[in-house]
Amino acid sequence: MRMSACDTPPRAAMRLRMFFVVSFAWAYHETPRYEHHDPVTSELLLCDQCPPGTAVERHCTSDSVTVCSPCPERRFAEQWHWGESCQHCTPVCKERQFVKRECNATHNRLCECVPGYHLSVEFCVPHSVCPPGYGVSALGTSDSDTVCEKCPRGFFSRVASASGPCVPHRNCSQLGMKTRNPGTATQDTVCDREPTIDCTRKHTDCHADITLCEEAMFQFLLSPPLASVDLLLESLPGRKVDKKSVEPLKKKCSPEQQALYLLRLWREQNKDQGKLYSIIQGLNHCERKVSRCAGLKNVTLEDLLVLMDSLPGEKVSEEAVRALALSCPTHRHVAQLLHLWKSQNTGRDLAKALNHSVRQLRSRNAPKTLLRAIKRISRVITASTHRPYEKILTGALRDASCFKTKPYND
Ligand SMILES: *[C@@H]1O[C@H](CO)[C@@H](O)[C@H](O)[C@H]1NC(C)=O
Ligand SMILES: *[C@@H]1O[C@H](CO)[C@@H](O)[C@H](O)[C@H]1NC(C)=O
Ligand SMILES: *[C@@H]1O[C@H](CO)[C@@H](O)[C@H](O)[C@H]1NC(C)=O
Ligand SMILES: *[C@@H]1O[C@H](CO)[C@@H](O)[C@H](O)[C@H]1NC(C)=O
Repeated sequence: MRMSACDTPPRAAMRLRMFFVVSFAWAYHETPRYEHHDPVTSELLLCDQCPPGTAVERHCTSDSVTVCSPCPERRFAEQWHWGESCQHCTPVCKERQFVKRECNATHNRLCECVPGYHLSVEFCVPHSVCPPGYGVSALGTSDSDTVCEKCPRGFFSRVASASGPCVPHRNCSQLGMKTRNPGTATQDTVCDREPTIDCTRKHTDCHADITLCEEAMFQFLLSPPLASVDLLLESLPGRKVDKKSVEPLKKKCSPEQQALYLLRLWREQNKDQGKLYSIIQGLNHCERKVSRCAGLKNVTLEDLLVLMDSLPGEKVSEEAVRALALSCPTHRHVAQLLHLWKSQNTGRDLAKALNHSVRQLRSRNAPKTLLRAIKRISRVITASTHRPYEKILTGALRDASCFKTKPYND
């Protein structure tokens, strides 16, 4: 149960008031006082209190001030007070607690529950585990339990866990597939193997089948001699993609499109595989960086036309650029234009094309924000996709194909 600031209980309010009185006194170097009846004269006196770390040894009299003495070992006084003894320090920490801070004259010993436990009515108890269908919205601490939330629509949690949050369902349409079973609070969405990519259609809508980072990273696989989809299919490392899932594309799509689709399925299937995981993490990282690129938020149609002109190879038609500017959200415009360009220039390297574009934009005095955005995308694409992973993947492919062609009588 949480308490809001509005219903502070009276005891806390009192403590708060005391705190102010004390700090007020400190701030003005004024010693707080207390009333004391002198037992000899019966006079009512106003004595000085003793500071933290000490206790009253002798109350004041009409002609002497209060005498304070330091707290003995294993005793403490946290506040100004007029008691004749200091409080005892907590002697030992409880089971499953460790000493967070030792006792000294001004502070009691502080005990804290060991990791994985929290204090509940005086005892350290293990953090609760959120059942399947619930995710962790706040991790347990030494004094608070795990906070679970029911997975909201679009999210799931398959296992009972004290640390796992609800994670989003996979989005089949983004993977170019149909949904077979929609996800629930405890299960991920199941996609059909049947792809929905329509390679005969011009990609003028906002649905990019392949992201820029994937294009760039997989680029080198699509240049000869690796352009064969069947070879790719057989030699990709990790979990194999089912041959049948690419079959429906064979009639309609170019080998490049098939290969990109295949790589996308492969990526999805190998999300959790050791070495490949780092490639895929790199891709995700790259995509986040591209999508967060600040300059992309407010490019104008004019900017898009300038950018289109600066790209090498076959140009995207002005009509298509206008169409995408009308149908896509602004922050997607640049990525979508590059995607369109890529689908018309399948053989070209996106990283090189962006370098070319940057040089062109610079020589034509293009708007600074546009130039900066393209430079940044170019850097992200070059740095985080293409180069670092090229070696790993080509290595894996080469090994696999070598192995395949090795004669058995060796
Ligand atoms: C006692 O412990 C507190 C908290 O660790 C520290 O701030 C304070 O300086 C200590 N006092 C002495 C006298 O060591
Ligand atoms: C999947 O992604 C598409 C495009 O990004 C979006 O329009 C659609 O709502 C998403 N579907 C689900 C089930 O989240
Ligand atoms: C984009 O927006 C930022 C801040 O909102 C602004 O400083 C910048 O000039 C804008 N760029 C263009 C090309 O409109
Ligand atoms: C693009 O240009 C940068 C620096 O100008 C260079 O380091 C990088 O290798 C170039 N990338 C390609 C693919 O040509």
